[in-house]
Amino acid sequence: MRKMFNSAIVESFKAKETPFYYYDLSLLKETLNECKTAADQYHFHVHFALKSNFNDKVLNIIKSKGYGADCVSGGEINKAIEIGFKKEQIVFAGVGKSDAEINFALDQDIFSFNVESIQELEVINELAAAKGKIASVAIRINPNVDAHTHHYITTGLDENKFGINTWDLPAVSETLKACKNLSFLGIHFHVGSQITDMNVFKSLCIKVNEMQLWFEERGMPVKVLNVGGGLGVDYYHPDENSIPDFDSYFKIFNDFLEVKPHQEVHFELGRALVAQCSSLISKVLYIKNGIKKNFAIIDAGMTELMRPALYQAYHKIENLSKAEGLGLTVEGSLNHTPHTSNLFYDVVGPICESSDCFGKEVNLPETKRGDLIALRTAGAYGEVMASAYNLRSAIRHVYSEG
Ligand code: LLP
Repeated sequence: MRKMFNSAIVESFKAKETPFYYYDLSLLKETLNECKTAADQYHFHVHFALKSNFNDKVLNIIKSKGYGADCVSGGEINKAIEIGFKKEQIVFAGVGKSDAEINFALDQDIFSFNVESIQELEVINELAAAKGKIASVAIRINPNVDAHTHHYITTGLDENKFGINTWDLPAVSETLKACKNLSFLGIHFHVGSQITDMNVFKSLCIKVNEMQLWFEERGMPVKVLNVGGGLGVDYYHPDENSIPDFDSYFKIFNDFLEVKPHQEVHFELGRALVAQCSSLISKVLYIKNGIKKNFAIIDAGMTELMRPALYQAYHKIENLSKAEGLGLTVEGSLNHTPHTSNLFYDVVGPICESSDCFGKEVNLPETKRGDLIALRTAGAYGEVMASAYNLRSAIRHVYSEG
């Protein structure tokens, strides 16, 4: 159990303008260290998926720990380079890379393009030829493995737009052989996000083994096996499970992936590295006691954290102004007496949309105007998905230096 808040931290929030993203940087560092140690024992390489969080402070810490960068746009490649990620540790994925983005990536001499269609291979070849360069490419294969996660964040099924289907592989190998400005590096997979069933990764390993054999049999050595990201986190118990079980995760790949001596294994983790280290902190603006329910209207909305509105995602909601909400007495010691005056609230934001709701029938200590509310596990796909809808202010930040 590693608690994110204590009474001193909550006290320090009182004078701050809300809403803001609070980052526990020591938790971020601990998470990164655990992941790195677990991966290093098998010589696995981890790239951080910038799409999950591109906050400069967070990225600087991730870079300083030796992680690579997994980018999905020219903007992300540019950011990774600005932050100082090594070019030979930058990979570029994405189903719709524009010519301008490909040209930019070629100019930057990044490690690899993770290519998602035969036509994309041809375009990269053409643009690389125009520059007199050879582009290193990994083929993103759609393995038809069900990630058993929300359908919006499942990516590895035949019906998904991502990757190249296995029946197209003969055409891929012909194209690779014909394209003189491409160098075949390896194969890439990513079956979905927020995966909590470890059997999914086991099934993925079996597919990767089949696929690498397919290429090797055709005289195309596979140097890199990139298995993507997707490791899930515990949104229900952020303090109890603040750091994902990286040991078990990497062990699955060590046990089931057939890695040859000449091969590197690459991962692209986003959520598992950054989700737990941040909470969105908000203040209660109004309490409305309806006939059927109570509403707690807070000053953060779907504009700051879109996941509940978009995926009906659950983020644990805590009232930080009530010691009981923290499991703390006012002095900060553990309080084991259950609170008796809890009520049920629909916790909603100020945006003019009915979907702007963070939780229905949330059991909270009696809540008042001005109380501080934490929306937990907001570090991944939180501030990166913010919008200015309703002409909202830019995202604010508060950091605990760890
Ligand atoms: N690699 C590729 C090719 C990806 O598409 C993704 C995520 C990752 C790696 C990182 O996956 P992670 O380790 O974070 O699961 N906005 C959604 C999640 C979208 C994930 C998109 N791809 C959410 O809020 O749940």
